[in-house]
Amino acid sequence: MSVWLQQISIQHCRLIQQVELSLSPTVNFLTGANGSGKSSFLEALSVLARGRSFRTPRISEVISQQAGTMTITGKLFNEDLDSSYRLGIAKQRNGQTRIRINHADVTQQAELSSHLPLTLIHPDGLDLVAGSPVYRRSVLDWLAFYREVEFQLAWKNYQRILKQRNACLRDPKQRYALNDWTQQLIQAQPKLYQFRLNATRALVAALDSVSLLYQAIGQVQVNLHKGFPVAIDPSNVQALSEFYHERQDQELRYGMSLYGAHRGDLLITIDGEPVARRASRGQLKLLGIALLLAQSEAISTTDTKRGIVAIDDLAAELDVDNQYLLAQVLQKTQKQLIITGTRQPLPEFLPSDAHLFHVEQGRIHLLNT
Ligand SMILES: Nc1ncnc2c1ncn2[C@@H]1O[C@H](COP(=O)(O)OP(=O)(O)OP(=O)(O)O)[C@@H](O)[C@H]1O
Ligand SMILES: [Mg+2]
Repeated sequence: MSVWLQQISIQHCRLIQQVELSLSPTVNFLTGANGSGKSSFLEALSVLARGRSFRTPRISEVISQQAGTMTITGKLFNEDLDSSYRLGIAKQRNGQTRIRINHADVTQQAELSSHLPLTLIHPDGLDLVAGSPVYRRSVLDWLAFYREVEFQLAWKNYQRILKQRNACLRDPKQRYALNDWTQQLIQAQPKLYQFRLNATRALVAALDSVSLLYQAIGQVQVNLHKGFPVAIDPSNVQALSEFYHERQDQELRYGMSLYGAHRGDLLITIDGEPVARRASRGQLKLLGIALLLAQSEAISTTDTKRGIVAIDDLAAELDVDNQYLLAQVLQKTQKQLIITGTRQPLPEFLPSDAHLFHVEQGRIHLLNT
């Protein structure tokens, strides 16, 4: 019961000029020296799945120096139907994008993304656990996107309202419309709160399946921070009205909306203490990996798409014992895995149908068959 990426071809992504690979449904391991193109390969995958790189917001940096267009196409295999279909994306330096699914033009990146639930784990992702709340909100919103059909529209609508309300708080000339936008912001809260709550519950339930990764660190707890003080219930519109009324002077001083779903977060504690104060770098990385694997796990309960987990530079900051732990956990997940590293992987990472690739100066070839 699943869909997986059977083939990928890449043209003009950084130093990768032209690559076409057949992937294994289980584990795909790419090894190569520094600068050989391993992260570039995952960037291409990220562009296909999300429309953007995980290393830079500027697509022109990712397109190969001499080229005008970067093209990435994939072939997805649907095991239920025993058939495959193609999808692809082309990006130009000026940002122009062309997306095709099954030979038809598509205008929305979200539609392409819905076919390829990609979870990316990379060394900079350390920030996930202890860095800005932006990262943790995006874990929840990614989950909500794949689990709830209404989420994307609700979130877009919220962003629009927030922008208008912030303009009213900032600019005295627009102040006359503040009450109106406050009302709209209030009306939008209950639904988003529910989406976030559902996503948090699914994430916490899925964390159980990867607890091996973090159980040695201590008692880990993950809770939703609502974006409001603890006593405020975001599903109670009347209470929100009173609350925003009370805080209006404060918000006017700051010139922006200080409360609401856009300020939500995941609160992570170890033995009751905030994680940032307790965990070492390696432990933060393990927890981050656990969160992302749980995120990927939590979508498969509602979706036939199995999901891809990509791990860039697997060994970075993990000692050998923790690499073994990770191999054990990954073996149990039903995800399609794409992993890179500068060295050959531990044999524990390679089931018999794994594909092992070598990357050299932007060229990639299969080492085993
Ligand atoms: N736009 C571009 N066009 C062509 N080449 C590029 C472009 N951007 C980066 N490069 C080159 O691509 C290479 C980067 O490769 P990449 O980051 O994928 O390596 P890597 O295998 O992940 O290395 P590491 O093990 O150090 O992480 C560098 O040699 C860099 O000079
Ligand atoms: Mg790299």
